[in-house]
Amino acid sequence: MASKNQLFEAKTEFIGTRGVREYRETIPVWVNAGDVVLEIGCEWGTTTALIAPHCKKVIGTDISPKCIERAREMHPDLHFEVLDGFDVKAALDFGEPFNKIYIDISGLSGYRSLLDTISLLMMYATVLQPEAIIVKSGALKRFAAHCTPWRSGAS
Ligand SMILES: C[S@@+](CC[C@H](N)C(=O)[O-])C[C@H]1O[C@@H](n2cnc3c(N)ncnc32)[C@H](O)[C@@H]1O
Repeated sequence: MASKNQLFEAKTEFIGTRGVREYRETIPVWVNAGDVVLEIGCEWGTTTALIAPHCKKVIGTDISPKCIERAREMHPDLHFEVLDGFDVKAALDFGEPFNKIYIDISGLSGYRSLLDTISLLMMYATVLQPEAIIVKSGALKRFAAHCTPWRSGAS
C-alpha cells in the first residue's frame, strides 16, 4: 500500500473539453477577476483575447514565432511570448503566479496520444500548481467521462 508521502496530492482540477467552442465556453465559468492565466498554444490569440477581460493578467504563448508575431499585430494590448509548452522550466521563468492554465496545442510537436496529454498536465500541475488546467482534448474528455474514483465504505 502506498504511504501518504508516495501519493501525489494534486490540488489542480483538470477540465477536458472537446473542440474550440467548448474550450472557450469554460472562460466565464473558470476565469475570475484576480486570476493570472497562461494559455499554451494561443495561435493568433483569439482565445487569449476572450480570456483577457475576465482576469487580472493573461499571457498567450505558442511554439510558432510566426503565430506570436501575428497575435501581437492583432492584439497589441495583450502579452504574447514564444514558448514550447513541453518546456515547463521556460513557463516557470515567466515568473508569474499562474493559477489557471489553458492548453490547446496541436500540429507541430503537439501531443500525439492521451498519455502525452496526461504527462503534460501532470507536469504543469506538479511544477506550477495551478488551481485548474483547461485543456482542449477530446481524448482526455472521453477518458475522464469513464473514470470513477472508488470510495471505500460508500454504498
Ligand atoms: C488549434 S491552434 C490553437 C488555437 C487557439 N488556442 C485558439 O483558441 O484560437 C494550436 C496551436 O498549438 C501550437 N503548438 C503546437 N505545439 C506546441 C507546443 N509544443 N507548444 C506550444 N504551442 C504549440 C501551434 O503552433 C498552434 O498555433
